Amino acid sequence: MAAAQRLLVDIHTHVYLPRYASFLRSRTAAPRIFSRTTPQGLTEERLLILEGEPSEGRPVGPQYWERDEKLRFMDKHGIDVSVVSSANPWLDFLPAATAHSLANELNVDLEAYCSTSPGVPGSMLRRLYGFGLLPLVPEVAVSSLLETVQQIAALPHLKGIIMGTRGVGRGLDDERLEPVWAALEKAGLVVFLHPHYGVDGRAWGEKENGHVLPLALGFPFETTIATTRMILAGVLDRYPALKLLLAHSGGALPQLSSRLASCIAHDPAVTARLQHDARFYLGRLYFDAVAYGSEELGFVSDVIGRAGKYAERGASAAASRDGGAEQRRRGSARVLFGTDHPFFPPLGESAKWKSVVENLEAIDGVWGWGDAEKQAVRGGNALALFDLHSS
Ligand code: URA
Ligand code: ZN
Repeated sequence: MAAAQRLLVDIHTHVYLPRYASFLRSRTAAPRIFSRTTPQGLTEERLLILEGEPSEGRPVGPQYWERDEKLRFMDKHGIDVSVVSSANPWLDFLPAATAHSLANELNVDLEAYCSTSPGVPGSMLRRLYGFGLLPLVPEVAVSSLLETVQQIAALPHLKGIIMGTRGVGRGLDDERLEPVWAALEKAGLVVFLHPHYGVDGRAWGEKENGHVLPLALGFPFETTIATTRMILAGVLDRYPALKLLLAHSGGALPQLSSRLASCIAHDPAVTARLQHDARFYLGRLYFDAVAYGSEELGFVSDVIGRAGKYAERGASAAASRDGGAEQRRRGSARVLFGTDHPFFPPLGESAKWKSVVENLEAIDGVWGWGDAEKQAVRGGNALALFDLHSS
C-alpha cells in the first residue's frame, strides 16, 4: 500500500477562525462568546450558540481558534490531514451585506490557515485543508453566492463548502438555490451538510437533559429532513455529480430510506417526481463515520452498497437480499472518518479523546470490512473525494 493510502484524514473537524471568534465576542445576543466568573473566582469564556441553551452554553477556549491546538490534537490522535470547517452557526444570523463580506474574509483567512500549515512528511500534502463559507442568508443576491463559489474554487486549499439546513431561509429544496448547486457541481466542490438548529429540546417532554437531546437526536434529524427535501425536490436528479457529504453518518436517513421510498410510492402528489427509487440516492451521497459504533457504520455501508439495485423505479425490496459482505464493502467507499473536534472533549483528564478513540474503534470493528476498506474509510476515501493527490 502506498504511503499516502495509509494516512488518517479527519473530514469533520471545526474551527472558529480568530476573526469569527472576535465577531462573536462583540455580540450581545446569541450566537455570542461571553466571559463569566466561575464559582472558584476564575474567568472563563463561554459559547452560546442558540438563545436559551442549557447551562448558559459551553466552555470555549483556544482549541476552537488556535491552529497550534488543532495540530496538537491531530498529533495526539495520529491524524495526518484535517479538512477543517467553520463551526455552526456560520453566517446564518447576519444581514446579507455583512454575511457576504465576512464570508469572503473568512475564506481568505482559512486559505492562509491551511496553506501555511506544515507538510505531511513524505508527501506533497499539507496537514490542513478547508471548507469555505457562502453567505447563505435571506435577502442575499444569487450573484453574491455565485461570486463566493468562484472565490472558494480559486483558493487552492479550500476543497468545498460547509452549509447548514436553512439555505437562503427556505430550506434546501428552495429553487433559488438551483444556480448555486449548478455552480458547486461545476466547480467540483464538496458540500458538507451540517446541522445547527436541531429540534426543540422540549419536544414531547419537559425534563432538562442538557445538550443530549438536541445533539444526539435533533442534529441528526435536522440533517435527515434537509437531505430528504433535497431528494424530494429532485436536486440529486438535476445535479448527479454534486458531491454531498452528510454529517453524523446521514442521521436517520439510512434507517428510514425504505420507509421513505414506500411513502413516496404511495403518494400520488409525489410519486412521479423522481427519476429513481429514494434508496438509489443514498449511493450518490457521502457519509462521515461520526457514528460511534461499528454496527451503525456497517449498516450505513449496507444501505449505500445496495443503492445501485434501486436504479430502476419499482425495484422490489427483495432486490437487496443478496447483499452480504460484498454490498457492505462496496458501501464503505462513501464513508469517511471524522472527529467533530473541538466539540465533545473528554469530561476528565485523559490522554486521548474518547469521542475520537470510539470512532476509530468503530471503523476497526465493522464486520465484513477488510483492511482495505478500513483504511479507505480512515483516509483513502477522503483523498479521493477531495482530490488530494500525493506522491
Ligand atoms: N455541537 C455543535 O454545536 N456543533 C457541532 O459540530 C458539534 C456539537
Ligand atoms: Zn460538527
